[in-house]
Amino acid sequence: MEKSLTLAWILVLCTAMAVAPCRGYYSDAKPYVPVPKKVTHLHFFMHDTISGKHPSAVVVAHPNITTASNDTFGFVVVIDDPLTVGPDVNSKLIGNAQGLWVSTGRDVACLTVYIDFGFMEGEFNGSSISVFSRNTIEETERELAVVGGRGKFRMAQGYAHLKTYYANFTTGDAIVEYKVTVIH
Ligand SMILES: *[C@@H]1O[C@H](CO)[C@@H](O)[C@H](O)[C@H]1NC(C)=O
Ligand SMILES: *[C@@H]1O[C@H](CO)[C@@H](O)[C@H](O)[C@H]1NC(C)=O
Ligand SMILES: *[C@@H]1O[C@H](CO)[C@@H](O)[C@H](O)[C@H]1NC(C)=O
Ligand SMILES: *[C@@H]1O[C@H](CO)[C@@H](O)[C@H](O)[C@H]1NC(C)=O
Repeated sequence: MEKSLTLAWILVLCTAMAVAPCRGYYSDAKPYVPVPKKVTHLHFFMHDTISGKHPSAVVVAHPNITTASNDTFGFVVVIDDPLTVGPDVNSKLIGNAQGLWVSTGRDVACLTVYIDFGFMEGEFNGSSISVFSRNTIEETERELAVVGGRGKFRMAQGYAHLKTYYANFTTGDAIVEYKVTVIH
C-alpha cells in the first residue's frame, strides 16, 4: 500500500515536471536566459526601538561572561521594525523589517544584519528585499548589501545607503534613513 502510494507520488511529480525529464529530484541543466532588469530606488526610515513596553527589537541571547559595561559583542537581537516614509514614527507606514542583528564587532561597534524588508504599500505590496551585510554603526553613513528578494524583487541585487537620523546609545533606540538601489 505504502509502496504504491510512493509510486503514485513519483508519477504525479514526474507529470508535474513534464517540461523537464524526471531524474528523481532534479531536471536537466539548461542555459539560463537572462531577462532585462529594472532598477528601483526606495527611500524610507526604519525605527529600531529596544526601550519601553512595546519594543520592536528584543535581545534573545548574549554571552555569559562579564565584559565592559558598554560592550555588546555577542548580543543577538530579533527585530520587527516599522518602516515609514518619514523620520516621524507616525508618518505613513509602508512596511516592516524582520530578522536578526548580531553584534559582531569585537573592538568597534559593528553589527551583522540578516533582515527581510517587506513592503505593504503600492506596487511592492507583498514584495521584500533580503539584506545580509555588515553594518558599521559607528559611522553615520554606511552601506549594506541587498542579496535577494521576493515577489516583484525576485532575484534582486543591490545596495542600501544608510544614514543615522537619531540614535540613543543609552537605550539602543535608533531611527535610520535608508536609500536603496534595487536591480531586479
Ligand atoms: C553563566 O556563568 C556563570 C558563572 O561562570 C555560571 O555559574 C552559570 O552556570 C552560567 N550560566 C549558564 C546558563 O551557562
Ligand atoms: C567603552 O568604554 C570604554 C571605557 O569607559 C571607553 O574607553 C570606550 O571608548 C567605550 N567604547 C564605546 C564604543 O563606547
Ligand atoms: C496589500 O496586499 C494585501 C494582500 O494582498 C491586501 O490585503 C492589502 O489590502 C494590500 N494593501 C494595500 C495598501 O494595497
Ligand atoms: C536617551 O534615553 C535616555 C533614557 O530614556 C534619556 O534620558 C536621554 O535623554 C536620551 N538621550 C537622547 C540623546 O535622546
